[in-house]
Amino acid sequence: MAEELIVNSNLDKKQQYEILIPQLKALVQGEKDLVANLANTSAALRQTFNWFWVGFYIVKNDELVLGPFQGTIACTRIKYGKGVCGTAWASQKSMFIPNVSEFPGHIACSSLSVAEIVIPIFNSQDEVVAVLDVDSDKFDVLDETDVLYLEKICGLIY
Ligand code: SME
Repeated sequence: MAEELIVNSNLDKKQQYEILIPQLKALVQGEKDLVANLANTSAALRQTFNWFWVGFYIVKNDELVLGPFQGTIACTRIKYGKGVCGTAWASQKSMFIPNVSEFPGHIACSSLSVAEIVIPIFNSQDEVVAVLDVDSDKFDVLDETDVLYLEKICGLIY
């Protein structure tokens, strides 16, 4: 396993993902522990993009429970169907919210977060087992390119 993540912040976003994805594949390949893989994935995403917050919520019974993340402290439990994360879980669809103040029911773990992407992670029975949550403190940083590549990354995890 690589000991150091290669990051080149001079590249455009697509190129950064293209460099990151094979490194993430190598990191999670052969490791079956979900928490270990979520921890390294959140760290690698933060190192690459320096987002305000990036991490995971794990499905436990009828709620999402905070998993590995990078950033400031966050809400620990989110109910099915609540907030952006609970909505992504219930709808089984990726959510891109360019302005969180326009999303009814958004759960503000930090008032600094202004835009958000949430991607569901599925097991082999197509059940949602976790969600990836990315928060930005700047408008116009997150976009559909992130959604596309983050879906690919979430596909590597389980
Ligand atoms: N904003 C999320 C809650 C999680 S934090 O952003 C880390 C939501 O509405 O589900």
